[in-house]
Amino acid sequence: MNVPEVVLTDPGALAEQLAADVRAGLTATRKTLPSKYLYDAHGSELFDQITRLPQYYPTRAERAILEAHAADIARVTGARSLVELGSGTSEKTRLLLGALRDAGTLESFIPFDVDPAVLKDASSAVAGEFPGVLVEPVVGDFDRHLGELPRHPGRLVAFLGSTIGNLDPAQRAGFFADVRSILRPGDAFLLGTDLVKPVERLIAAYDDAQGVTAAFDKNVLAVVNRDLDGDFDLDAFEHRAVWDAEHERIEMRLQSSREQVVQVCGLGLEVHFAQHEEMRTEISSKFRRATVEAELAAAGLLLTQWWTDPPGDFALSLSVPG
Ligand SMILES: C[S@@+](CC[C@H](N)C(=O)[O-])C[C@H]1O[C@@H](n2cnc3c(N)ncnc32)[C@H](O)[C@@H]1O
Repeated sequence: MNVPEVVLTDPGALAEQLAADVRAGLTATRKTLPSKYLYDAHGSELFDQITRLPQYYPTRAERAILEAHAADIARVTGARSLVELGSGTSEKTRLLLGALRDAGTLESFIPFDVDPAVLKDASSAVAGEFPGVLVEPVVGDFDRHLGELPRHPGRLVAFLGSTIGNLDPAQRAGFFADVRSILRPGDAFLLGTDLVKPVERLIAAYDDAQGVTAAFDKNVLAVVNRDLDGDFDLDAFEHRAVWDAEHERIEMRLQSSREQVVQVCGLGLEVHFAQHEEMRTEISSKFRRATVEAELAAAGLLLTQWWTDPPGDFALSLSVPG
């Protein structure tokens, strides 16, 4: 079933943003590229493959929590509208949608993602599986567009997959404040967070032997080549996953295997990479309950429920406007 989407990102503004972000990242002393540019249609497909890898425990762990507690979430929130930020394939979200439907409250579903391709497939599939539910997909950027999402009463805003971990603490503070500002009394916020655990498991999850995460990581170079007329040689960079113990986060980095100069013609930029120089492409912060609770509280969100999977790998928390 084809569902028309609302597009909040106008192509001109999007291109300008990409150009500004890539210029800032490639000219910084320690080079970076923002992780949201990993997700074009190909990047979303690769991420979907990652979620099925044996080493990538977060998806299975979060699904286990939803299997155990989706009915509790439906009962406690009584939500009529489910808004999903960074929705991707919305695969696990079916468990929540099913529980809300079974509870007799579900009226609408608003998946929201920066990648129109994944959003289109997911919303068509959900609309087919949940007849009678209004599905309103929105293409946009959760850094900028939360205030423009459709405002149905009785909202549960979900942010799954520990995508929150891709933001640094200052960005998280801004994001939680934005979420708080769109919630009304009676609404709730459901947040998935990956928890701190032994480093070996984390590294394996972000650097699989099959090379799927490496391909996903390098996709950001293909995006720059395509959209900004760059000439990155994807084979001249190696994917690395590094644990930053101080900040308790995994960093995905691309390491230049030789000294090289990359042209990004769309920006009129010539970028020099030293041999073994590393460029950060994603952070994936790992959390503890106290940090999550404190960060939510700082934004005026009161944590009311905390569920983990049996091994304690991942947590789902429910919070309400405080
Ligand atoms: C780690 S994946 C998680 C996908 C899904 N929620 C899950 O739990 O498997 C992050 C998702 O957020 C989307 N995304 C990343 N940055 C975004 C942004 N700034 N605004 C909106 N969506 C974004 C990506 O396209 C992707 O679908």
